[in-house]
Amino acid sequence: MAFDASKKAAAEAAVKFVEPDMVVGLGTGSTSLHMVRLLSERVAQGLRVEAVATSEAIAAEARRLGIVLVADYPNFQRVDVTLDGADEVDEEGRLIKGGGGALLREKLVATASTRLVIMIDESKRVKCLGQNWPIPVEIVPFGWARLQKRIEELGAKVQLRLHEGRPFVTDQNNYIFDCNFGPMADPEKVHAQLIQLTGVVETGLFLGLTNTLVIGAEDGTARVQHFYPAPPNYVRA
Ligand code: A5P
Repeated sequence: MAFDASKKAAAEAAVKFVEPDMVVGLGTGSTSLHMVRLLSERVAQGLRVEAVATSEAIAAEARRLGIVLVADYPNFQRVDVTLDGADEVDEEGRLIKGGGGALLREKLVATASTRLVIMIDESKRVKCLGQNWPIPVEIVPFGWARLQKRIEELGAKVQLRLHEGRPFVTDQNNYIFDCNFGPMADPEKVHAQLIQLTGVVETGLFLGLTNTLVIGAEDGTARVQHFYPAPPNYVRA
């Protein structure tokens, strides 16, 4: 798998941010799968943590590997640290997420977290968000064709995400639009325009949320970058 060694290196460095008795948010995607496996090794060695999962898939993997989910899961009160991947990261640590379709739970957990650690390989770094990836946008299925037109009027090419020829359905029974705005000069404005449309549940733009970025390399090393203090447009809501 492309970039697999780099993803694993990022996950190895990221699990070091987990300390005893923490509530840990588990991201979704191939990098997060590495992270869950590595975390489970620490748990097997006696590390005591509880977890909140950002998708059914990662919850199943965590349980299989012996990581305990919080007692009231899928509810949770606090998350100390969340370790998650991303599709694109710009120089301010702003993200596009949702390539795996888990953006809504990922944002719910990220915004509840004291610290958000994002694990990437070098290919995810961009000058401008939207350079390589469309923005995944979670929408309610009812009336989706009309909503598609409204988002196209904002200047995006919009595709309903499909899986085996049928609409891809999220863990919340919603659909996903992949919205290609091209490289964005003002992702905050694009998020604001999208989120006010009736039928849009959440966008895959994660703005002002990243605290720590871990960039893994093919040789197994990783670099860590912190975003403290938070950028001026910091909104954790
Ligand atoms: C899941 O919905 C996404 O936000 C993933 O975190 C993102 O797509 C990164 O995935 P990989 O770790 O597989 O590259």
